[in-house]
Amino acid sequence: MRRVNRDMNAEEPGDRTAAPPASVGATGKRQVLGAQSLPGICYRPLMQTIISITHLAKIYASGFQALVGIDLDIRRGEIFALLGPNGAGKTTLISIICGIVNPSQGRVTVDGHDIVDDFRAARALIGLVPQELTTDAFESVWNTVSFSRGLFGKPPNPEHIEKVLRDLSLWDKKDNRVMTLSGGMKRRLLIAKALSHEPKILFLDEPTAGVDVNLRRDMWALVRTLRDTGVTIILTTHYIDEAEEMADRIGVINRGELILVEDKAELMHKLGRKRLSLQLHRPLEFIPSALAAYRLELTDGGCELAYTYDTRAEPTGIVALLEALSAADIGFKDLQTTQSSLEDIFVSLVKDSK
Ligand SMILES: Nc1ncnc2c1ncn2[C@@H]1O[C@H](COP(=O)(O)OP(=O)(O)OP(=O)(O)O)[C@@H](O)[C@H]1O
Ligand SMILES: [Mg+2]
Repeated sequence: MRRVNRDMNAEEPGDRTAAPPASVGATGKRQVLGAQSLPGICYRPLMQTIISITHLAKIYASGFQALVGIDLDIRRGEIFALLGPNGAGKTTLISIICGIVNPSQGRVTVDGHDIVDDFRAARALIGLVPQELTTDAFESVWNTVSFSRGLFGKPPNPEHIEKVLRDLSLWDKKDNRVMTLSGGMKRRLLIAKALSHEPKILFLDEPTAGVDVNLRRDMWALVRTLRDTGVTIILTTHYIDEAEEMADRIGVINRGELILVEDKAELMHKLGRKRLSLQLHRPLEFIPSALAAYRLELTDGGCELAYTYDTRAEPTGIVALLEALSAADIGFKDLQTTQSSLEDIFVSLVKDSK
């Protein structure tokens, strides 16, 4: 039958029949307290960790260190976006969690299952949409997706496969050979394969690279629907607007180091910051104590006073600042405002970490 295994969704050579973890019931809900818990009481904290990564490092056989001491917890049910420039280590990190690449140091657990010692149970919970388009050119869409499900030891479920194909607008192509699909359809097929075994966690490695705007929107909608059904989603992207639109939390990785993990709302708070620059009539040597209450900076050899403020704050403090300047007899001849974007924050973070 088939076949050389180039399928990133079931990369482990040898036995690929992964049994579902014993502790996950038919409903997919996990009883956290286990057998010792009080009858009828199911403990489900809001911010429960589903993937725990500690001191993770990767040195490839070439000697190249791709990851350095990564510590990260992914929360159950969140959409986590991993940002970083080319070669930062995003795919390496995902590949380790999915068991494609061996870690050099550290530990990863997926819903309590160690990815090395308890590989099959961990892997059964994960769907992976890989960055590279690797599909079986001669197989039909239906067979490819059904086969992916079988790799995880799941019994056939044509209703589920049909739903996945319909959700991804691939139903009318179900009998087509994969080679006859367009690039965007092939990308959707990768998602269909990743969803074939009903994973609790979905990794999307650059899901929208090179796809058109409509497909991007469709994918975003699909990801949200999945999240609403309780699936945890980790995506990597170079499109900062995608992270902005989709993510609950954002992680930035550069040169193998995780340099920031923050709630998107918190980042948006930073995004909302503006800078008011005032070109002064006379240079100042220091900021007068009368202005100590304001977030001020003296630049340009004391010729410019910069005030950073939150555009969404009420009041922004500008009116009061201008009054205080007038009272302190500090005149200015010109002013500008500039707004920082998430992109600015990202670029400066990556630059600072070099
Ligand atoms: N098998 C390998 N052997 C040696 N080095 C590797 C191997 N795979 C990846 N690397 C190196 O590890 C670094 C991280 O690569 P990785 O694919 O994780 O980056 P990435 O963040 O996913 O980048 P991109 O945004 O381009 O997809 C790169 O410098 C890459 O060349
Ligand atoms: Mg990558």
